[in-house]
Amino acid sequence: MSMTWFDSPTDATARLGAAGYLADAATATTTFLAGALEKPLLLEGPAGVGKTELAKAVSRATGAELVRLQCYEGLDEARALYEWNYKKQLLAIQASGAEAQAGPGSTGDGDHQSRPWEDLDRSIFTEEFLLTRPLLTAIRRDEPTVLLIDEVDKTDIEVEGLLLEVLSDFQVTIPELGTVAATRRPYVVLTSNASRELSEAVKRRCLYLHIDYPDAARERQILQQQVPGLDDRIAEQLVATVGRLRELELKKAPSIAESVDWARTLIALEIRELDEKAIKDTLGAVLKHQSDHERAVKELKLARS
Ligand SMILES: Nc1ncnc2c1ncn2[C@@H]1O[C@H](COP(=O)(O)OP(=O)(O)OP(=O)(O)O)[C@@H](O)[C@H]1O
Ligand SMILES: [Mg+2]
Repeated sequence: MSMTWFDSPTDATARLGAAGYLADAATATTTFLAGALEKPLLLEGPAGVGKTELAKAVSRATGAELVRLQCYEGLDEARALYEWNYKKQLLAIQASGAEAQAGPGSTGDGDHQSRPWEDLDRSIFTEEFLLTRPLLTAIRRDEPTVLLIDEVDKTDIEVEGLLLEVLSDFQVTIPELGTVAATRRPYVVLTSNASRELSEAVKRRCLYLHIDYPDAARERQILQQQVPGLDDRIAEQLVATVGRLRELELKKAPSIAESVDWARTLIALEIRELDEKAIKDTLGAVLKHQSDHERAVKELKLARS
């Protein structure tokens, strides 16, 4: 019944790698375990370190379809689980009203009056009138599925209540229809920037992995994979500089995405030596706040132009 997601941590490393994701040992192990234990995987860490990308890479590596729930402030049940298609229900009610009026033998005796209403109630709370949202979609799919619940810390804490049934029992209860249980458990990934603490109840149901900035060697590998034509020496200089920037107290430390942007910038400008001037001229690709910019110029002692 349940599909094996990855055979071992080594298998996870290899297949994620082939899907373009360079995982360190801890990431590969936890990614394997989440599949083997069929437990949701909670990924926490700073912006741009590859949390969302890991879920996408699991989907690419296993051929399972990705179903994504993007969280935001104000996300509710109707957007996360399901909602009834009121417009269609209303049309059905109007249509059946017209039918009843046109129909023969509507004598209006007490016995018959309540029945059409009940029938109607039964007929408009059915599959046909249900709009499924990502959580329910993922639970009901027969094919292998990766369910990404992205940026879960952006929702109000009440939404975590909605998630619990899905995360612990892999089911969704719809009062009018009953309980829909997963026939095949999705591989669930939750991501968070830790902008607030998640509830203990959610954490308890998940495997936890903190993803941080990669070490220099891995970041070079990521760059070389994503930016064709980047030469070794400049990759090394870039990664070293980004590492120094991350040690400064900045509003927004440069992420992997910014390293990639920076590498592309250097290639576009045909810069072959990341000297002080080159850094200064292209810092906008890496630092997105004026105050960070100023601090970097000062701390890295970049020459004034
Ligand atoms: N291990 C990795 N292997 C390959 N590419 C990576 C890796 N980690 C990060 N990246 C690259 O970094 C980019 C940013 O990663 P991602 O969007 O997953 O960040 P995130 O952690 O979800 O950030 P945020 O919290 O801002 O959503 C990805 O598009 C990918 O190109
Ligand atoms: Mg993300």
